[in-house]
Amino acid sequence: MRFTMLRLPESLVGCALLLLALLSGSPLHAEDSTAAAPPSASALIVYKNPFCFCCKKWIKHLHSAGIQTEVVNSTHMSEIKGQWGVPQGMGSCHTAVWQQKYVFEGHVPARFIRQYLSNPPKGSFGLTVPGMPEGSPGMYDGKKFEPYNIYLLMRGGDYQFYKRVEHPDTE
Ligand code: CU
Ligand code: CU
Repeated sequence: MRFTMLRLPESLVGCALLLLALLSGSPLHAEDSTAAAPPSASALIVYKNPFCFCCKKWIKHLHSAGIQTEVVNSTHMSEIKGQWGVPQGMGSCHTAVWQQKYVFEGHVPARFIRQYLSNPPKGSFGLTVPGMPEGSPGMYDGKKFEPYNIYLLMRGGDYQFYKRVEHPDTE
């Protein structure tokens, strides 16, 4: 069937990468974060649905902030979120993974990704901006801004408040 033919390569790429991550032996949720490389060392892997446009805008925002990305299109986003430990109800459209270790879910501003990676809080493995707040990068239209929260993804399936974003990231 045509539809299946079109979908297959995409899902294979996603699976292959995830498999690689699992086989490489690097823990998804490492015990210690001191080995984290600086953000410029390589690209952030962004898993996203090929038909999502706000994802593309968020990726643009990252690029203008100097964060490189590698996009993996997938139509199995909920499986990917599950595999990377994003709790139910705390997800967004895209899931980004840094060095197979840290997860950035949704429209997290670039400056907070940098801040997080420079000093990942103990017990956490990433950040999430649940849903798609209108004021977040990739969503903000320059008119309507409402403050929103960034949460820490904690090992063991929990989450904690991290930062409140009071101003739009306009780049
Ligand atoms: Cu989005
Ligand atoms: Cu997205």
